Amino acid sequence: MSNLEDIVSLCKRRGFIFPGSEIYGGMAGTWDFGPLGVILKKKLMDSWWSFFVESRDDMYGIDAAILMNPRTWVASGHTSTFADPLVECKECKSRFRADKIADGISESVTSEEFLNLHVKCPVCGKENWGPIRKFNMMFSTHIGAVLPDDDAELMEKNVAYLRPETAQGIFVNYKNVLDTFYPSLPFGLAQQGKAFRNEISPRDFILRDRECSQMEIEYFVKPDTWEENFEVLRNLQHDFLENMIGLRADFIHEYEVPAEDRAHYSKRTIDFMFDYPNGLEELMGLAYRTDFDLSNIARESGKSMEYRDKVTGETFVPHVIEPSIGVERLFLAVLSNAYTEDEVNGEKRVVLKLPENLAPYRFCVSPLLKNKPELVEKAKEVYQILREKYKNVTWDDSGNIGKRYRKQDEIGTPKCVVIDFDTLEDNSVTIRDRDTTKQIRVPVSEL
Ligand code: GAP
Repeated sequence: MSNLEDIVSLCKRRGFIFPGSEIYGGMAGTWDFGPLGVILKKKLMDSWWSFFVESRDDMYGIDAAILMNPRTWVASGHTSTFADPLVECKECKSRFRADKIADGISESVTSEEFLNLHVKCPVCGKENWGPIRKFNMMFSTHIGAVLPDDDAELMEKNVAYLRPETAQGIFVNYKNVLDTFYPSLPFGLAQQGKAFRNEISPRDFILRDRECSQMEIEYFVKPDTWEENFEVLRNLQHDFLENMIGLRADFIHEYEVPAEDRAHYSKRTIDFMFDYPNGLEELMGLAYRTDFDLSNIARESGKSMEYRDKVTGETFVPHVIEPSIGVERLFLAVLSNAYTEDEVNGEKRVVLKLPENLAPYRFCVSPLLKNKPELVEKAKEVYQILREKYKNVTWDDSGNIGKRYRKQDEIGTPKCVVIDFDTLEDNSVTIRDRDTTKQIRVPVSEL
């Protein structure tokens, strides 16, 4: 089992992920993806899109604006209920999410329940708490020409929120898609994009961020078929996580969320938990959102959200099943799944055993020696051949060959191709395998 510090350190050392705006001291809960992180993140997002959207006839894509009319969040319930329990230590003034500093309590914990647990402040060690207050996690901003000294009413009138979930960008476009594509139920609308949450305590590297990327599907179904569709989508999530992404099946655990802990819109939720290096944490959620969102939008907008059955002519508001996954949480699951330490020739080796379809580079090409022009020239020729075929191919002529292998192992490159003096004679190259470290000779024509 890997440990989180090792993964954080590898991410920084090899250019996967850097702390957000680190040069100015950083900003809690934000992270920047470096050159290798971008490739892996994009591959994860593309795999999801290909699996859930492009390869299916019942899915449509959406890319909605992040800034949405504030009535969106009134209808969705986020203005009134998207809040975490905040508690302040009266001694040192530190603020915490109450359900994260004590075991066995839920997000709906009351002040009295919390006080009865006799929790000590994680910062100063004292036990002197203020009341539990609900803290709304939406980031607000102002739209248009609003100045800081404008009156409160104008400020309030122009307030807007950075979306806390991508889902609402889908719901507000349900009717547009219905009126332009006339899909038959069941069908899904999928979206990938940024979501923002003013988390009280961002933590655990990229697991709980203030800015994250979500991949969500709202799957619209006939109300009396929700259970069977829930099962279909539940199995699809396993198929995607285990077969497309290669996560270990025994590291994925389903957790049936009890009613008191479910989001305000859900009648059933299964959290897919993953064995992260720092413990079991939520990777993604599958929720039955009923007609909660569409009915609230109908009420708030005055527009009908009804669907007319093409065969029976019956009209009703569809119900919704929602699989929702955070890209960063998937990214960390993939890295911790792949992170391995072993020993090669008596030396510790770090190797990322990423599946070939996710590795940032599929091949690394090197000349055995960089000061031999004839080797470099031949290696460049081989590099071009592979690059044309596989795109994600890297070139490395730094250090000695052992160091190059270690570097490529750490970033998960499955194969290293080396051009040596024999290549000039027999036009074959050495291919070295990342996981076994075994080497074979292959003619260039068979690459
Ligand atoms: N639309 C439903 C929804 O947003 P959620 O359980 O709040 O439900 C869905 O979030 C997923 O988004 C989570 O399972 C997680 O993968 C990801 N996510 C949520 N908050 C996050 C955060 N602060 N940082 C990173 N990922 C987050």
